Amino acid sequence: MAIVFDDSLKTGNDLIDAQHKELIDRVNKLEEACAAGSQKRTAIQTLDFLMDYVHVHFADEEELQSEYKYPQESAHKAQHRAFEEAVGQLNEMLEEEEGPTDAFVEAVKKNVAQWLVDHICVWDKQLAQYIREA
Ligand SMILES: [Fe+2]
Repeated sequence: MAIVFDDSLKTGNDLIDAQHKELIDRVNKLEEACAAGSQKRTAIQTLDFLMDYVHVHFADEEELQSEYKYPQESAHKAQHRAFEEAVGQLNEMLEEEEGPTDAFVEAVKKNVAQWLVDHICVWDKQLAQYIREA
């Protein structure tokens, strides 16, 4: 099911929110591509398209954290690295199979879509609040 970028996902930081909106669009595209029983190539391309933006977004968020000397910086960065690792595993999964399997689709839902929503609601909201109060 597609993620809707509504007020519940807004952190109140304009840059972070704008990037999250783009990120969610790309996660939705990946889910759509898999749901449509796509070709392996399409699924890999959609995953790459998502990851390109994940790297941009994480780098910007992490730059903000060092700029504001955010106390949770290392824990927050560890979350980002864990996500990148999980997506790396998804990539391997795709390479090994003929195309997106049911297990792959489930992993996208849990390790990408749900992870992102949870991360935004806890970690990124805390970060945005810290920047606001700084
Ligand atoms: Fe984050």
